[in-house]
Amino acid sequence: MSIDDDQLVEHARDAQKNAYAPYSEFNVGAALLTEDNQVFSGCNVENATFGATICAEQTAVFNAVCHGARQFTKIAIVTDNDAPVMPCGICRSVLFEFSPDMEIIAVGSSGRMEKIRLSQLYPKGFRLKSKV
Ligand code: THU
Repeated sequence: MSIDDDQLVEHARDAQKNAYAPYSEFNVGAALLTEDNQVFSGCNVENATFGATICAEQTAVFNAVCHGARQFTKIAIVTDNDAPVMPCGICRSVLFEFSPDMEIIAVGSSGRMEKIRLSQLYPKGFRLKSKV
């Protein structure tokens, strides 16, 4: 049985607790659901150089890929911002690489949930070799 959206959001909240964001104080948690019902989570990890900072969505994807998972159906993203926050441009491209039509579930601190498909958020995303 597949886990539901609320459960996926809970995984993202757990990951958010590990966010390392001393510079921005913007803690982000993400949880990816794979086609075969596994969950891989991530949090943002900042760096004193700023440029080496990595977003929660990206650490979730890299965590999954390191464990052999590449097909994702959903990602839940949580922050402490009142309104739901959508993934940044680089994260959109990282997600697009593996599952261009995955569902994005963003949740704000108010509990409001916004859902959108990556194909809507990042249409015609970059591919090194375009499919015909
Ligand atoms: N951040 C994410 O984790 N995901 C995004 O999609 C946008 C931004 C992080 C990066 C940085 O640690 C903090 O949020 C402020 O930009």
